[in-house]
Amino acid sequence: PATSLQDIISHAKEYGFVFPSSEIYDGLQAVYDYGQNGVELKNNLKTAWWKAMTQLHDNIVGIDAAIFMHPLTWKASGHVDGFNDPMIDNKDSKKRYRADQLLEGKAEEYTKAGETEKAQNLLNEMGRLLGAEDLEGVRNLIISENIVCPISKTLNWTEVRQFNLMFSTQVGSVAEDSSLIYLRPETAQGIFVNFLNVQKSGRMKVPFGIAQIGKAFRNEIVARQFIFRMREFEQMEMQFFIRPDTSQHWYNSWKETRLKFHKAIGLPAEKLKYHDHEKLAHYASAAVDIEFEFPFGFREIEGIHARGDFDLRNHQELSKKKQQYFDADLDENGKPYGNYIPHVVETSVGADRLFLATFCNAFTKETIPSNEEGKEDKERVYLKLHPALAPIKAAVLPLVKKDGLAEKGEAIANSLKSSFRTVYDDGGAIGKRYTRQDLIGTPFCIAVDYQTMEDDTVTIRHRDSMTQERVSISELKEKIGYAVSM
Ligand code: GAP
Repeated sequence: PATSLQDIISHAKEYGFVFPSSEIYDGLQAVYDYGQNGVELKNNLKTAWWKAMTQLHDNIVGIDAAIFMHPLTWKASGHVDGFNDPMIDNKDSKKRYRADQLLEGKAEEYTKAGETEKAQNLLNEMGRLLGAEDLEGVRNLIISENIVCPISKTLNWTEVRQFNLMFSTQVGSVAEDSSLIYLRPETAQGIFVNFLNVQKSGRMKVPFGIAQIGKAFRNEIVARQFIFRMREFEQMEMQFFIRPDTSQHWYNSWKETRLKFHKAIGLPAEKLKYHDHEKLAHYASAAVDIEFEFPFGFREIEGIHARGDFDLRNHQELSKKKQQYFDADLDENGKPYGNYIPHVVETSVGADRLFLATFCNAFTKETIPSNEEGKEDKERVYLKLHPALAPIKAAVLPLVKKDGLAEKGEAIANSLKSSFRTVYDDGGAIGKRYTRQDLIGTPFCIAVDYQTMEDDTVTIRHRDSMTQERVSISELKEKIGYAVSM
């Protein structure tokens, strides 16, 4: 049977990848903790992204900005006025829904029934009404489309209200002195306000990029689908500062580059697709999502947005500090391009969503047919992770604990540890120990047997094929080291 989201949630919890936050108090909705294996996988994903962005591009550098920012930042970015979700309550069930999601659900139903034109018309109408802030119109559309509450099955809807997604808190200890500040809803603004700091201190020339990985917070109304939509999550964003007339070129270029990245970390081409936005965010002039096929359908993992000079221009206006760049390059008439506010193409991917995509894709259930009559087929579950992403790269397993095999195994594990994450395990039957490593996606198991004691060779068992090969201990570091690099 196909993998369900429930399979993923259970596996993630049972094998130390993701736990509900503060679980002993029954958890906190839409907040999750990463466990001992989850944190490794997530770090490996972040490292892969960081390397792809900064190490492999001469003109992209990283920063790490604070979560708290001056409150005017969010005025300039448009988040105070425009970062809203339209919500609607059902009077009977007292449950709250996102109006746009109810309509999108209906459109999906039309699509499934083959009525694609109806679906498209509905989405267009929704986009138009939301764009015009016609909330009454949105409610009427929900009613005329006969969208009933999933729980009460009634049409008894309240009016539609805009709900700002930013969390706020106070800085300052005494109430009178304290002022309202926000927890950042995107990391991007930390990059925009540092644009000139980085440009000047790094003597950066347009086009150049600034990358950042960090936490972001959104008070999502409807939190569901595990770590897909969280209230506290992590973003990996890059703002690429460009000459205004090159926007289309860089938008297309980043769109391609980012898709290649997802393929390089092991997401298969047939589970990835582009989705052009019909409804643009308040800052974007063009936007495309890269979607991944989760167990609950194709959904966004990354957004690529042409933001124009929206952010820098607004920051210039509110801060009264010029956000300009002097471009000494010569145009076609031989004159310098001179001063301008750069335009920006942004790439923005959620670390947690990428984690979920990677995890869902790696989760593999396989039936191993029994060769003997009367014996049942076996089921094997393993994580088919790219070796560079696997939490543990190698496990050293002595066949038995006696006759010096344990000591030999420990010595091998110790010699590999500094090169890549290696564990030693001598507890239980060797088959069980292989299974333990399969379940967390360890690509290589190194078995130490009696022959090892004679000729310093071991077997490497490969996770996906379960085939074994005999190699010399002295080859391990290079062989595995090569396989686990990206
Ligand atoms: N700076 C642009 C920006 O923030 P976005 O489309 O709102 O754009 C970018 O978010 C990415 O951040 C999304 O593609 C998604 O991967 C991730 N993301 C957004 N909201 C999220 C949430 N509530 N939980 C987990 N990831 C989220």
